[in-house]
Amino acid sequence: MYSVALMVQEHENILKLLTIIENACCGILDGKELVHEDFHSMIAFARNYADKHHHGKEEQIFFQEMTDHLGALAVKLIQHGMLVEHDLGRLHIGELAKALEQHEKDPQTLFQLKILTEAMGYVTLLRRHIDKENEIVYTYAEKNFAPDSLQSVDQRIMDFEEEANRNQVQATYLDLLNTLEKKYNP
Ligand SMILES: [Fe+2]
Ligand SMILES: [Fe+2]
Repeated sequence: MYSVALMVQEHENILKLLTIIENACCGILDGKELVHEDFHSMIAFARNYADKHHHGKEEQIFFQEMTDHLGALAVKLIQHGMLVEHDLGRLHIGELAKALEQHEKDPQTLFQLKILTEAMGYVTLLRRHIDKENEIVYTYAEKNFAPDSLQSVDQRIMDFEEEANRNQVQATYLDLLNTLEKKYNP
């Protein structure tokens, strides 16, 4: 299925961000400087690519089709699992952004601790979340979607991609990811 292949590929990019975040956090503990600008870039990727671009497709199209057509198990999996985790991810990123601003004004150890814990909370949450989607959620949907669902989801996801492409979302954030990778995932 076009949509699943695309979203699994996006997971690969998000996993790269998670490694970047983890390496940046380890670097700080090893005594390297906390570069605020880099953390702002990581937050921008998490918000605009992982959340808006990727979770956007899941929530507005793929998961919506699952809850509309695949019965109680799908509803439970999505509403009590995936959507709750998307929301927890937003909480971690929001708290991380807050701590980062506080640390910029006043570089206290407490704010640094908050940066490290929120960042790593996000990493752990998203790794498990991506694993569940790749192994369980996407495969379940692919197996059980009726042919018209498969076609409709693929078409709407293609349209979403085109619209994002016109706004250079993919190019902008993959470029940012590449720059961060050179520095943090050499
Ligand atoms: Fe998700
Ligand atoms: Fe996902």
